[in-house]
Amino acid sequence: MLHAENLSMRYFRKTGQANHFHAVKDVSLALRPGEVALLTGRSGSGKTTLLHMLAGLLTPTEGRVRLDDTDLYALPDAALSRLRNAKLGVIPQGRSAVDTLTVLENVLLPQQLRGEKGDAKGALRWLEALGIANLRDARPAELSGGELRRMAIARALAGNPEVVLADEPTGDLDDENTAAVLSLLRKAAVEEGKTVLLVTHDSEALPYGDRIYRMESGALSAQSEE
Ligand SMILES: Nc1ncnc2c1ncn2[C@@H]1O[C@H](COP(=O)(O)OP(=O)(O)O)[C@@H](O)[C@H]1O
Ligand SMILES: [Mg+2]
Repeated sequence: MLHAENLSMRYFRKTGQANHFHAVKDVSLALRPGEVALLTGRSGSGKTTLLHMLAGLLTPTEGRVRLDDTDLYALPDAALSRLRNAKLGVIPQGRSAVDTLTVLENVLLPQQLRGEKGDAKGALRWLEALGIANLRDARPAELSGGELRRMAIARALAGNPEVVLADEPTGDLDDENTAAVLSLLRKAAVEEGKTVLLVTHDSEALPYGDRIYRMESGALSAQSEE
């Protein structure tokens, strides 16, 4: 189980009346194995900031993140990197491709960073499921936005993480690929027991979630379960 306990993130800003503001305010939530939690909210409401803190990528100004019994930010840097790489699969909102590697090599990268050879057959199965197996030897510069996004999804899932944190993964996909990605993430939770957090603006995603959270100006509220 991934727990956020009273997480806050204050950013310092040079302009404006206050010299800092809370992008995330006192957020607590528990993400459970086998479930998809949806996180919605307007642009700028703090969703990405919260996801980065849950992913071990951004040290909160207050609060803790616990994966089972491990307090992520109490770990030394090297141990946190190892844990992140072994257990947390992040599908970032922005670009994340390594441009010098092929698509398949990008997908295998998390496994190789763990010192493994990497399961090329497994990686290809993810590329197939996402409809981009034909691009396995292409370089990221040759891919469209939607293809790059699907490569990032394949990379997160091929690493076989316990937790999948997806930041608007269907943002640049057409309807057909949106449905394919949402059902892959749902399957990862239901059939493989993964813990999935899905940040989305897409109302199409609602049926794929077990619970829905909403961010407003950095504060989190739980919405009724569908
Ligand atoms: N590194 C940063 N420094 C200062 N402000 C930031 C930084 N990153 C994000 N913000 C601000 O924090 C707020 C929340 O951003 P973000 O978490 O990206 O929101 P969302 O993902 O919901 O669109 C925004 O007002 C954004 O401008
Ligand atoms: Mg965002």
